[in-house]
Amino acid sequence: MYLSAANHRIPLSDGNSIPIIGLGTFSEPALTKKGDCAASVKIAIDIGYRHFDGAHLYQNENEVGDAISEKIAEGKVKREDIFYCGKLWATNHVPEMVRPALERTLKSLKLDYVDLYIIEVPMAFKPGNEVYPRDENGKWLYHKSDLCATWEALEACKDAGLVKSLGVSNFNRRQLELILNKPGLKYKPVTNQVECHPYFTQPKLLKFCRQHDIVVVAYSPLGTSRNPLWVNVSSPPLLNDVLLNSLGKKYRKTAAQVALRFNIQRGVVVIPKSFKPERIKENFQIFDFSLTEEEMKSIEALNTNIRFVELLMWCDHPEYPFHDEY
Ligand SMILES: NC(=O)c1ccc[n+]([C@@H]2O[C@H](COP(=O)([O-])OP(=O)(O)OC[C@H]3O[C@@H](n4cnc5c(N)ncnc54)[C@H](OP(=O)(O)O)[C@@H]3O)[C@@H](O)[C@H]2O)c1
Repeated sequence: MYLSAANHRIPLSDGNSIPIIGLGTFSEPALTKKGDCAASVKIAIDIGYRHFDGAHLYQNENEVGDAISEKIAEGKVKREDIFYCGKLWATNHVPEMVRPALERTLKSLKLDYVDLYIIEVPMAFKPGNEVYPRDENGKWLYHKSDLCATWEALEACKDAGLVKSLGVSNFNRRQLELILNKPGLKYKPVTNQVECHPYFTQPKLLKFCRQHDIVVVAYSPLGTSRNPLWVNVSSPPLLNDVLLNSLGKKYRKTAAQVALRFNIQRGVVVIPKSFKPERIKENFQIFDFSLTEEEMKSIEALNTNIRFVELLMWCDHPEYPFHDEY
């Protein structure tokens, strides 16, 4: 399969389509200057990115929105060219909170709809404005999850025209089946955003998702920023991998470009994050080469089944998704 830049969208089961590469916009607020996100989104649009992955939790949706508005005003893009994915955070799973949370996102973005809205994690936390709720002893405050009720509230948002497509993130097979088998299901989830890269290739979840027309969106496709506060850094850095670098040499590409090409070539959407212009450009230059079938297989064999993003601090939540095999 040879994917060209001009033809880089994949169809979703609801009739919409998703650009196969998007710009991730998560950046530690403490390590990011105000304006970096907006500048990066504008550069990305000029380079050709049309898909942006964001979240209320990332505290920069207003910057993404400013950048998109500016590029629309300049005449560089139209609203319908842009694909924005937003996320419903764990403290907003209670059905009455779903639409207000999405409306808050729309207000920050200055848009009247998002293209995709996904449940960020299957675990519900104590509802309220505290995004990481804990008690006075530091213990996490959870809430009983009712994923089907949350899903029905999302379906109502789609009916109201606030979102085009609905999806999930960090859902395991059982949690996907819970939604897929929900009595009276109106809209199926069209995407599942999960960690996915050559060291964590997700063969079983990918197969299950394909069987159910759910497109897998790969987060941390370059192996994360390796911030030890939330990343399992006991695994070696992905981009130092010998095979990825030797294939890069063969194709005059970088290990990052080979890692991204590997996923898009098997139909997995990638959302690499960079706020550096030269890397934003580099990560988009993955449509002018193709890995052989054998090379694809040898990259698949790098899988270690070890996550960089384990979310272990929430492993005692009843809906913690990563106890199951997949
Ligand atoms: N749903 C979820 O639970 C979830 C979880 C994690 C992430 N996400 C989404 O997925 C996006 C991507 O994941 P991520 O941010 O964890 O990690 P990533 O995209 O795998 O890696 C980002 C890191 O790699 C660096 N980088 C980018 N391009 C590079 C290149 N060509 N060469 C070398 N280094 C490069 C970036 O630094 P610079 O910025 O300095 O270039 C940054 O430190 C996030 O931004 C977010 O939108 C979602």
